[in-house]
Amino acid sequence: MNAKGIISIIASLLMLLSASVFAAGDHQTATAPEDFLAMENPNDPDDVDDDFLKSAGKLYKRKCKKCHGTDGDGQGSAAEDIEIKPTDFTVAGYMEERADGQLFWIIKEGSEGTEMEAFGPGTDVNVSEEEIWNLISFMHAKFAN
Ligand code: HEC
Repeated sequence: MNAKGIISIIASLLMLLSASVFAAGDHQTATAPEDFLAMENPNDPDDVDDDFLKSAGKLYKRKCKKCHGTDGDGQGSAAEDIEIKPTDFTVAGYMEERADGQLFWIIKEGSEGTEMEAFGPGTDVNVSEEEIWNLISFMHAKFAN
């Protein structure tokens, strides 16, 4: 093979490589449909006490921690092997700026093309809608920065 051939092979390999890095780095979580975005968390903030957090925290630990981490920073034990990384909920403003209905939608239905599977009613994990809202209240209480 001549030098030109080798250079063009190297160039294609580099392009392939940058395309895959770009695809992962460039991933944008899809935006929930309007009816989800308009949803309000039915939990009264006054009800989010120690017992509430303990119970929602148990569910988080069982189903979410391995990816999103104990502290919600996306550094769970399974995160390393995942290409599109689990969301870091502790990023400043994240929990404030994201509509609860957005979080609800992703937890219930998953994020297509990522390791974030659907957890809602009828799935293998079968988390109820009430439990999803409880998880969201837990995340606000523990991870918001
Ligand atoms: C197998 C790993 C894994 C597990 C387990 C997991 N997640 Fe995720 N999660 C992800 C990944 C990866 C993303 C990023 C998805 C994206 O960027 O589209 C994500 C994204 C999210 C988001 C971001 C939604 C948004 O719009 O910003 C929320 C909320 C979320 N997960 C909540 C949970 C909750 C609650 C649980 C437990 C019931 C859970 N996740 C379990 C991997 C996981």
